[in-house]
Amino acid sequence: MNWSVVLFGVWPYIALAVFVVGHIWRWRCDQLGWTTRTSELSEKRWLMWASPIFHLGMLLVIAGHALGLLVPPAATAALGISETAYHMVAVGAGVTAGLVLAVGVVLLVLRRFILRTRLRLVTRPGDVVVYALAVVVVAFGLWATFAANVAGPGYDYRETIAVWFRSIFYCQPQVDLMASAPWQYQVHVTAAWALIAAWPFSRLVHVWSAPLGYLTRPAIVYREQP
Ligand code: HEM
Repeated sequence: MNWSVVLFGVWPYIALAVFVVGHIWRWRCDQLGWTTRTSELSEKRWLMWASPIFHLGMLLVIAGHALGLLVPPAATAALGISETAYHMVAVGAGVTAGLVLAVGVVLLVLRRFILRTRLRLVTRPGDVVVYALAVVVVAFGLWATFAANVAGPGYDYRETIAVWFRSIFYCQPQVDLMASAPWQYQVHVTAAWALIAAWPFSRLVHVWSAPLGYLTRPAIVYREQP
């Protein structure tokens, strides 16, 4: 069996299909369970730090990934940004974002599994799977970046991984590009697709219900009844 084709040509489509169908299933069968299933009532002090750090890191990493994976080098070159300048900013900002996210993940894991053992009562097997995948994805993302672009000779993922990533959505996956990437990146993306497949069955569905309306809704005036 050609494992590269399975992992980089088939697995992404399975994960995307499970992601879409899983969300439809969850919405139709479990709307009342569509929540963060917050554990705030069980523990607040650690969560007060861990949650904002994790979410800030996540927003920064998502922004970095959108730029790195979706914007081709020709577009940044057309804007007059040299490859060296792009690389320096991308690695600096990417590592900073990754470290913020890693601190958030470590704090959340410490809180839930080590320091506040009473949280085990409100922890489901699905939570353990999502936490484990998040740890693997973040650890290997950082490892790959450090090994290749901080300590190593440099690896231009915009010419390989990013092209492979976009090719998945054109339905012509360029498997060889991902198969020739350093192995840490391969583990990173394979676990990332697993996280995407697990998404609809986990508390991560709350992302689609972020209460953004609060930001723009009119002020509510409370008056005493006459
Ligand atoms: C299939 C989807 C994904 C692809 C193709 C992908 C690709 C990449 C690439 C190419 C890098 C290296 C960037 C560099 O060397 O500068 C990277 C780094 C990283 N990724 Fe991902 N990634 C994916 C999903 C995710 C997800 C879901 C997370 C978080 C839960 C994540 C977290 C990270 C982190 C923390 C780093 C290291 C720091 C950074 O460069 O931002 N990735 N990823």
